[in-house]
Amino acid sequence: MFLKNSWYVFGWSDELKENEKLVGRVIIEMPVVVWRNPQGRLMAAEDRCPHRHAPLSFGRVEGDNIRCMYHGMAFNKNGECVDVPMVDKPPKCSIRMFPVIEKNDWIWVWMGDPKLADEAFIPDAWGVNDPNKAMRYNSIEYDAHYQLVHDNLCDLSHVDFVHEKTLRPATGAYWAETLPVVAPQSRAVRFERWFENAQMPSDASVKVDTWSTYEFVVPGIFILYGARFPAGTAKKCDYKAPSKDIKPIFENIEQQAVTPISATKTAYHYATGLIFPAKDVTKEIEARMDVVMKTFEEDRQIIEAQQKIWHLTDPSIKKQFLPQDQGPSIMRRLMDRLMKEE
Ligand code: FES
Ligand SMILES: [Fe+2]
Repeated sequence: MFLKNSWYVFGWSDELKENEKLVGRVIIEMPVVVWRNPQGRLMAAEDRCPHRHAPLSFGRVEGDNIRCMYHGMAFNKNGECVDVPMVDKPPKCSIRMFPVIEKNDWIWVWMGDPKLADEAFIPDAWGVNDPNKAMRYNSIEYDAHYQLVHDNLCDLSHVDFVHEKTLRPATGAYWAETLPVVAPQSRAVRFERWFENAQMPSDASVKVDTWSTYEFVVPGIFILYGARFPAGTAKKCDYKAPSKDIKPIFENIEQQAVTPISATKTAYHYATGLIFPAKDVTKEIEARMDVVMKTFEEDRQIIEAQQKIWHLTDPSIKKQFLPQDQGPSIMRRLMDRLMKEE
């Protein structure tokens, strides 16, 4: 089951830099083709020709129209068939068009009722092309149901075990030793915590207090902010959010999107970034991206292995609930409620 009335991340803006380039992908079992018309305006349509179901992403953009390059049917910007070779009057058939928006360097497609497509549902992410930040990005796929990926992101205690030699030392914190404060929002779950006396990633002998906060937003958008302060800052702040006038030593940001392809395959678009006082952080961001890519390969391995066991397991067999399951279970309940409502 998938949530339909939602903006899903199709991919990165940079993947569709050129006008008239067609990119076909599958989102919640629906083939979708996205392109820019000759004026650069984004368009999104069902990637399935009504004739013999060839993908229109193998087609050609002709002004505001798209033509199937199997037997030549053409469709206008409303998805209506406007031309068929050897036929005087095109048949009354059409392809489905989807609302599509570019924001924070991602391309978002609304997969539900177009009348309900509200841009306000798109969360504010960091944007990978912002010149004031150093960011790197990538996309991978998991052979797993999207909810196993949501579970993974809503419980970061796994960092200490799955990422024992990668992300754990790179963050300098012990994620399985401090439960976050978990706050449900109307279409998201928010997580906040301080790590006291964490290690400075560049020098383990330097102790810092790390403020770490992230939101996991429907239908699977993860936006994280982390900031390192001198040790003692958490106590000074009474373990609440640091005020804007306390300057962090440096900040890290993460932007990730979980886009279900099918019930057994999930796309994962992730970016990592640093905000340093120094302008040139090329070396640092390359090193961080290297760690992050290894980290998500580790996630892929454990999640895909877990999925295989889930396939073998009768759903009536109970799973042991742990305190760290609070975030994943709030997110699962929220998604279930929204899917039931629609
Ligand atoms: S499959 Fe598209 S025109 Fe035949
Ligand atoms: Fe992970």
